[in-house]
Amino acid sequence: MSTPFSQRELRDAFGLFATGVTVVTAVRPDGEPVGVTANSFSSVSLQPPLLLWCLAAGSGSVGAFAPGAPFAVHILSHQQRELALHFARRSAEKFEVDRHWRSRPHPPQLADSLCRFDCSVHAVHEGGDHLIVVGEVLAIARVPGAPLAFHAGRFGTFSADRDVGPVDVWHDLQDQWY
Ligand SMILES: Cc1cc2nc3c(=O)[nH]c(=O)nc-3n(C[C@H](O)[C@H](O)[C@H](O)COP(=O)(O)O)c2cc1C
Repeated sequence: MSTPFSQRELRDAFGLFATGVTVVTAVRPDGEPVGVTANSFSSVSLQPPLLLWCLAAGSGSVGAFAPGAPFAVHILSHQQRELALHFARRSAEKFEVDRHWRSRPHPPQLADSLCRFDCSVHAVHEGGDHLIVVGEVLAIARVPGAPLAFHAGRFGTFSADRDVGPVDVWHDLQDQWY
């Protein structure tokens, strides 16, 4: 299909949407752990509790995300930039097993992430050159801290506007939406 923009232009435009950064971990059927840095994470539903992220269809990790398979989504803290880069590599050996995978045979759990969602694959949808992995959230583990953010190809963190004060914008607005 011909488009009025190049793939590079599309990628750069998508990158203008500032996001957090996650690492998604799981275990392939052959028992190998997988870990993928992903910023395509999104919340989906509260009841039932669902989230999603998108995985490149050509990734060597695809086999770990069959329906019903367990996986974990880690929201990274600002201190975990190196971890984000580590799990963005195309490498079969992203895990130093003893350091990162004490939770064996469950998906690897990365220490010190802001939040870990323990999930099972609810559905996998085709989405062009990516798969949309929808997960049911089974458990949540949180620690306080500042998030790692990603915008226009650069890492940073979030800084709240000072003039607004400690208002919970989400809770204030949701009464108007629903
Ligand atoms: C900030 C950032 C966000 C990324 N987001 C995604 C994503 O949402 N989905 C994806 O498939 N790859 C994403 N990637 C690339 C993957 O992390 C990388 O291709 C993957 O780790 C390769 O793993 P594999 O060898 O298991 O395929 C991202 C990379 C970075 C640096």
